[in-house]
Amino acid sequence: MASIFDNILDLPNSGVNERTANLIGFETKFQRIYGNLKLLLDQEGLKTWSKKHHKKELPVISQLTERYPLIILAGDAGTGKTVSAESIADRMVRELGRDGFFLKLSTRVRGEGLHGQMGNLVNDAFAEVKKQAGKNRLAFLLIDEADAIATTRSTMQMHQEEKAAVNTLIQKIDEIRELKGRAIIFMSTNRLHFIDEAIVRRAAVILEFERPTEQERKDLFEKSLDGIDFSKKELQVLADLTSPEQNDELGYSFSDIRLKILPEAIATSFPNSPLTFEILCDTIKNIKPSPKIK
Ligand SMILES: Nc1ncnc2c1ncn2[C@@H]1O[C@H](COP(=O)(O)OP(=O)(O)OP(=O)(O)O)[C@@H](O)[C@H]1O
Ligand SMILES: [Mg+2]
Repeated sequence: MASIFDNILDLPNSGVNERTANLIGFETKFQRIYGNLKLLLDQEGLKTWSKKHHKKELPVISQLTERYPLIILAGDAGTGKTVSAESIADRMVRELGRDGFFLKLSTRVRGEGLHGQMGNLVNDAFAEVKKQAGKNRLAFLLIDEADAIATTRSTMQMHQEEKAAVNTLIQKIDEIRELKGRAIIFMSTNRLHFIDEAIVRRAAVILEFERPTEQERKDLFEKSLDGIDFSKKELQVLADLTSPEQNDELGYSFSDIRLKILPEAIATSFPNSPLTFEILCDTIKNIKPSPKIK
């Protein structure tokens, strides 16, 4: 099993919780998903509620549970899709007071040219999810970079085996409803338009990820460098230097700032001098925003 999963986590998880605290704009995204899925996740509670307040199980209850526990995380590279999936899962089990299990499916096999294995991979992943979704345990499966598996079947060059894998995937998403809210599937993609429409149609939520706004860029610099005490004006300059307006209409992504600019600025200062506003500005000017994925 270990080989097909990049990542297996028990939830709640303190490491994930710490990462969540550093995610800018997380709360809004979480509330949107939680608001949408909490009915699906608490089907027993919903029945109890209906009986208590309406003396019967209203027909709408069973209709609600026909929805698919599928969330699509869509957006450009480095906008936080992968990190957010873990954080959302972790927050969800905390909110519900339950235990959980997070599996991240590796789609790398494709790179190795093993087209025929895609279907098996999907089967194994969902079998594991079923196994793990215990009575009181929520199982989450992240199919990261899902375009590798879920590409639209209308693509001409698609191999027969790949088409079969998409069919398997759709079938498995349908079956997962039998688990009655004990399993949630995330799919991340930076090419939503490549994902098969039968899959897109099933998503309970499509969450769009964007590069950070001006305020988010300020928050990111301020939070990451808390203790340096930049002035409001300096933060504004940092946000401006990384803005679309000053970079041919393409701003820096979260990962450009966090995984490129900040480490490089620190590398420039370490070990003999402090990190300064000037060093940061120079670093930004030397690093271009990553190109947009088409
Ligand atoms: N909302 C955020 N707040 C702060 N940092 C963030 C945020 N989103 C992403 N990051 C940073 O950007 C890095 C990249 O995020 P992540 O790997 O989730 O991007 P992604 O959308 O999955 O990109 P890709 O499409 O390339 O896989 C993270 O390690 C994190 O440091
Ligand atoms: Mg990712």
